[in-house]
Amino acid sequence: MQIKSLAEYEETYKFSVDHPEEFWAGIAENFLWKKKWDKVLSWNFTEPKIKWFEGAKLNITENCLDRHLEKNGDKPAIIWESNDPEKPSVTLTYKILHEQVCRFANVLKKNGVKKGDRICIYMPMVPELAIAVLACARIGAVHSVIFGGFSAKSIADRINDSACKLVITADGSFRGNKQIQLKEVIDDALIGCPTVEKVIVLTHTRTPVSMLKGRDLWYEDEIKLVDTVCPAEEMDAEDMLFILYTSGSTGKPKGVVHTVGGYMVYAGYTFSNAFNYQPGEVFFCTADIGWITGHSYIVYGPLSQGATTLIFEGIPTYPTPSRFWEIVEKHKVNILYTAPTAIRSLMSFGTEPLNGIDMSSLRVLGSVGEPINEEAWHWFDEEVGHKKCPIVDTWWQTETGGLMISPIAFVTPLKPACATLPLPGVQPLLVDEQGKEIEGNGVNGNLCIKFPWPGMLRTTYGDHERCKQTYFSTYPELYFTGDGCMRDENGYYKITGRVDDVINVSGHRIGTAEVENAINMHAGVVESAVVGFPHEVKGQGIYAFVIYPKIHDEPELTKKDILQTVTRVIGAIAKPDKILFVSGLPKTRSGKIMRRILRKIAEGETTSLGDTSTLLDPAVVDEIIAAAQQL
Ligand code: WTA
Repeated sequence: MQIKSLAEYEETYKFSVDHPEEFWAGIAENFLWKKKWDKVLSWNFTEPKIKWFEGAKLNITENCLDRHLEKNGDKPAIIWESNDPEKPSVTLTYKILHEQVCRFANVLKKNGVKKGDRICIYMPMVPELAIAVLACARIGAVHSVIFGGFSAKSIADRINDSACKLVITADGSFRGNKQIQLKEVIDDALIGCPTVEKVIVLTHTRTPVSMLKGRDLWYEDEIKLVDTVCPAEEMDAEDMLFILYTSGSTGKPKGVVHTVGGYMVYAGYTFSNAFNYQPGEVFFCTADIGWITGHSYIVYGPLSQGATTLIFEGIPTYPTPSRFWEIVEKHKVNILYTAPTAIRSLMSFGTEPLNGIDMSSLRVLGSVGEPINEEAWHWFDEEVGHKKCPIVDTWWQTETGGLMISPIAFVTPLKPACATLPLPGVQPLLVDEQGKEIEGNGVNGNLCIKFPWPGMLRTTYGDHERCKQTYFSTYPELYFTGDGCMRDENGYYKITGRVDDVINVSGHRIGTAEVENAINMHAGVVESAVVGFPHEVKGQGIYAFVIYPKIHDEPELTKKDILQTVTRVIGAIAKPDKILFVSGLPKTRSGKIMRRILRKIAEGETTSLGDTSTLLDPAVVDEIIAAAQQL
């Protein structure tokens, strides 16, 4: 599946556009199917309705586990590195992982889980998280993993949206010098979740937890009661594999739905190809499994290719900012896939933390989650890769399932801070506000995709209309990404950032409407408006303009109260970096907030604010500017 030269890329790309069905059928041949497909693709972007490999039967865990057993059963599948560097790391071979997945799949079955049931997973970054994910897939249950930084209320919303039957969690998790009481958060969430019948609790931090009779079970006890044989459920290619909630510009987070066959082919193919993974190599993706990057490039992509994937529980700066580099040295990591925000944060400590650490095992570097700035790109290239490791700057989304626009390591000529070219099978185009295609090079526009790819979302859980409205209605017959993009003189794509009301904080997608709703839930708040602003480490920070007429004591304390409310409603990841109390917001005569003006003010701009003549009360702008300068 791996492309070896630029000429081969060009030829493959052309073939994938001229003959997409033949192309993807050829790629799919590299996977294990119980029955091959009757039809490679049927689709329209109007409803939308997308089906890949219709009629095919498979189980993704047979591709990720069983098929490697004979030749590579004793090869490490997962290497786990604890938050605490003093704790020994853990290696699970393919044989052991297979056994543990089967065992836990039997635990799920024993507790009444059937094909199609939805299971919520809220766990630390430990091997059992990957085991839980794969155990669901083994028996055809649909997993919905929730990132450990979300609050009880966010979890409850997600559990209720997809009517989860069972929750898999742990007592707590370690992150740097902090502990998060996961079970306690789950207990709070479940007060409002009538569909959940059972909770399976892994022992990890061994902090005291409440265990409810008839509902809560210990992981360690349960796995003793079952055996290790669990035949893989036969799934249709278009059966649901997982739901992953993500933020958009309006309303609640939506459950992006991925299906078994297409997702597997896409995650496996892009992993093998873009990173140029070689047998025996150690792949270290620093994302959390709670996000799509972890789903596709810690679990499914690497394991489907028989790779060794490293799971790290902690954070890059604990106990020191050498931690990532020490892990690279200790486990002889060959491919390191991380986020610009981590690079910027580590860069701020200078090169001292890298001194004396042998990172010669590194061969390929990767970046994901947000646009990477040139300074961070060069630092990554020079200080980490010693200018000998290609950096693949991979652009993609929760909705795309896998990499879309990205260099192929050792094939695509690189350009700093640029996602370069579409991978085979990906047909991007740029459109103007009216949806007219912008042709040629040296142009800017909104990034769309005009043809389906196997890893694309199929729907948003329980609300297909929302999927249609969000992605397929802005521009008819096109999938709209929500990103702005430049195509340079050489036809290279460079993502410029979101063009909708989504902000990207440390690579996490946060909808401004969600944060506003959370702030507005705070007693005393009349109205608020949230925008992003450039942040040196996080990429973007959250700036909230808040109308709060009767501050009862010190404004600084009131701000902390508001942060507490946001933490309760969404989670600590959505806390605004700046709060500015204002007496009014810039609105048009029809009552719409002019965020464009607020964005400029948040960026520190005070003069060229553009046309303000349509504002209901232009004076409010001067007042906000004056207040912002005080902040
Ligand atoms: C942004 C993460 C520039 C983009 C895989 C996208 C990027 C959103 C890049 C999706 C990149 C991701 N360069 N921007 N290499 N990768 N983005 O769903 O705005 O968490 O729409 O998926 O992150 O975020 P999501």
